[in-house]
Amino acid sequence: MAAAGTELRVFDDLAALSDAAARALVDAGKIAVAERGRFTLALAGGETPKTLYRSLAAEHRDDFSWGDVHLFWSDERFVPRDHPESNAGAALALLRPLSLREENLHAPDTTLARPEDAAHRYEDELARFHPLDAVLLGIGEDGHVASLFPRAPELEETRRLVVAVHDAPKPPPERITMTIPALNEARAVHFLVSGSGKREALRRVLSGADPSLPASRIRPREGTVIFWADREAAW
Ligand code: 6PG
Repeated sequence: MAAAGTELRVFDDLAALSDAAARALVDAGKIAVAERGRFTLALAGGETPKTLYRSLAAEHRDDFSWGDVHLFWSDERFVPRDHPESNAGAALALLRPLSLREENLHAPDTTLARPEDAAHRYEDELARFHPLDAVLLGIGEDGHVASLFPRAPELEETRRLVVAVHDAPKPPPERITMTIPALNEARAVHFLVSGSGKREALRRVLSGADPSLPASRIRPREGTVIFWADREAAW
């Protein structure tokens, strides 16, 4: 049972949930562009959202004004853009067919000396667009979201929009992440959840049984939360 203000949508498999979520994002993007002249979207890292990125590039290249889209990342690993672990590097390679504008790509600058420097610069950039129209998130088997891990001090941040992480239990250890306050200001949060390994975390979040979980803390004040899950994760 999803808690109030959240919605669970279940699909046969990752491909089906990704196609449906891609359609929903494009529909939301068209409304945002009509109302505000742009669509501000934070992408998620990890493996799950890659199928959605492929679906956007393959199915929605010509049915949306991608030049009006500003891309952000809900978190990033502190590695070079061409590193195999780079969230921005992986997403942008998959989204290459879309006519995105270079000046509208707002990824943390991982060429700076320290994650703190990248977090401060990224926070300044995000603040110019905050609150975002939509944020994509994955969920870890431990219930983490972005680079906010269970019992981590970054979870308790109440002022900053972006912070550095030095000891992430999921490698690589150095990261930059949007904070709970930043994520909860989004107009819409979309969780992408696939596979039986996520079943327990999803159950704990949807039931509200474990409010300490990072994913349980994603409760946008005014925004919506949709969990896009496959059967493996949901049942
Ligand atoms: C990251 C992600 C992270 C991811 C979850 C799920 O940079 O690692 O932001 O939070 O979303 O760990 O990852 P998978 O989709 O690969 O299972």
